[in-house]
Amino acid sequence: MKNTDGTEAAKRAAGESAADLVADGDLVGLGTGSTAAHAVRRLGERVDSGLDARGVATSYQSRELAREAGVPLESLADVARVDVAIDGADQVADGDLVKGGGAAHAREKVVDAAADRFVVVADDSKLADALSHPVPVEVLPDARATVRDALRGAGGEPTLRAAERKDGPVVSDNGNLVFDCDFGTVSDPDGLAVRLSAMPGVLEHGLFVGLADELHVGAADGSVSTRSLR
Ligand code: A5P
Repeated sequence: MKNTDGTEAAKRAAGESAADLVADGDLVGLGTGSTAAHAVRRLGERVDSGLDARGVATSYQSRELAREAGVPLESLADVARVDVAIDGADQVADGDLVKGGGAAHAREKVVDAAADRFVVVADDSKLADALSHPVPVEVLPDARATVRDALRGAGGEPTLRAAERKDGPVVSDNGNLVFDCDFGTVSDPDGLAVRLSAMPGVLEHGLFVGLADELHVGAADGSVSTRSLR
């Protein structure tokens, strides 16, 4: 489930600010979503101007965008570490994130966690005092009934994500289904993350706890504030 409140100018400011951090020789994790897309396009412009950088895509969307923008790509299957990952978020609170509004959080977590420096890019509508956005949970299709029960047992209200412009559910790039699970305000993100990860049939959830190193927040006037999260 997406948070669509932010302005395009705010997203662009944050995404481009993070892309300007990339240095010669870097392998860059390319996040998914409308804010990370600005970073990918800016990186493409910089590569066009002579920057020696390569990317690792986190989704079909970011791979196609990188190709269009002219960012050379490495396959995720061949990559064990990344210099800098630039990725968006659906909500940010106290350095922790909810991600997965675009159902890309499984590969995003692999790439973001492999990065020496994980830079979160967000418009200012994403900031909150505590995480409360429904948590995306990617599940094996055949585990949807058992996982739905387990999520309810953990205090959540899961809703199977429905596709738009297609009948039936969203199917992720990995061939799985996604629940958006409302836990209300999450008082213990780390504890909930551990609990979700332990559920059989859960491929990955969208709680990114203690992973982010840096936050670039864009505002509608095009300004950016940056903050270290370490
Ligand atoms: C993709 O699955 C998500 O994790 C996105 O990174 C997140 O939804 C942020 O996207 P926007 O920048 O489009 O809000």
